[in-house]
Amino acid sequence: MQPAISVLGMGRMGSALAHALLKAGHPTTVWNRTPAKAAPLAAAGAEVAASVRNAVAASEVVIVNVSDYQATQSLLRDKEVAGALEGRLIIELTSGTPDGGREAHGWAQRQGARYLDGAILATPDFIGTEAGTLLVSGPSAVFEEGRNVLGALGGNVQFIGEDPGLANALDSAVLALMWGALFGALQSIAVCRAEAIDLGVLARQWTATAPVVEGLVSDLIKRSAAGRYDADAETLSSVSPHYSAFHHLVDLMEARGLDRTITGGYEAIFRRAIEAGHLHDDFASLSQFMGQPA
Ligand SMILES: NC(=O)c1ccc[n+]([C@@H]2O[C@H](COP(=O)([O-])OP(=O)(O)OC[C@H]3O[C@@H](n4cnc5c(N)ncnc54)[C@H](OP(=O)(O)O)[C@@H]3O)[C@@H](O)[C@H]2O)c1
Repeated sequence: MQPAISVLGMGRMGSALAHALLKAGHPTTVWNRTPAKAAPLAAAGAEVAASVRNAVAASEVVIVNVSDYQATQSLLRDKEVAGALEGRLIIELTSGTPDGGREAHGWAQRQGARYLDGAILATPDFIGTEAGTLLVSGPSAVFEEGRNVLGALGGNVQFIGEDPGLANALDSAVLALMWGALFGALQSIAVCRAEAIDLGVLARQWTATAPVVEGLVSDLIKRSAAGRYDADAETLSSVSPHYSAFHHLVDLMEARGLDRTITGGYEAIFRRAIEAGHLHDDFASLSQFMGQPA
C-alpha cells in the first residue's frame, strides 16, 4: 500500500503532480483555493479536502505547489494548520529562492515537521514520466524517506545536497542558461526580421548550430571549474574573435535601429575583461567578471 499524500495547489503543475501520484497508487487528497480546479482530480479518484487544515490532517506527506513562497506561507502559517504539521513530511515544490528554502526548512523544523525543498525542471506534461526532472535538497535521511513519493513525479529525481537552499539555487542557475538561449533567440529573430530573412531559415540554422553552442557551453563550464582562463592548445576561441564578431552584431543592430538592451550588458562584461588584460585569453576568462564568486 502506497503512503497517502496531500497536495496543496491545483494549478497546472499541482494538478499534474496529483495525477501522477494517483497513477502511482497513492491515496491522494487535494486542496485548491479555487475549488473548481480540483474537480478533474476528484473525477480521477482524489479526495478533495474542504480546508488546508483537513488536507494536512489527511496524510503524513504534504506536497505544496502554489505560485510562490508567500502563497505557501499564507496557507501553512495559519495557527490551526501549523499545529497540524507536527510529524508531517512537507515537500515544497513551489519555485523559490535559496534563502526562501532555508527559512522554510527552519520554520518547518520548529513546527516538528520534516522538510524537503524541491525545484521542478520540467513542464507539467513531463511529470510522472521518465524524463521528468526534480532537484531536491534537505536532510539526506529525509530525502531517503521521500524518495519513493518523489519517484512517482519523475524518473530523474536528483538529490542536490543537505542545504535546503541548494535545489532552488541550482534551479536558478539552470534557468539562467535557458533564458540566455531564449533571449538570444529573441535577438536572432529581431535581426532576421530587420534583414528580411525568413524565420524558417533561422529555425534550420539553429538545428545546425545547436551542437556547436552545446560544445562551447560545456567547454566554458569545464574550463571555469578548473580556472583555466589562459589561452592554451585546447582553447576553442579567445575573447578577441568573439569581441570582433560581437561588434558586427552591434553595428548591424545600430544600423537597423534594433533594441540593444541585451547587447549593452554583453558589452559591459567584454569591456571589464578586456580592460583587465584578457583580450587574448580563453573566453572562459569572462566568468571572472560576472560578480563575486561564492
Ligand atoms: N508550469 C510549469 O511549467 C512549471 C515548471 C516548473 C515549476 N513550476 C512552478 O510550479 C508552481 C506552480 O506553477 P503553475 O504553472 O501550476 O501555476 P498556476 O497554474 O498559475 O497555478 C498557481 C497555483 O497557485 C495557487 N495560488 C496562488 N496564490 C495563492 C494564494 N495566495 N493562496 C493559495 N493558493 C494560491 C493558485 O490557486 P488558484 O487556482 O486559486 O488561483 C494555483 O493553484 C510555481 O512555483 C511555478 O514556478 C511550474
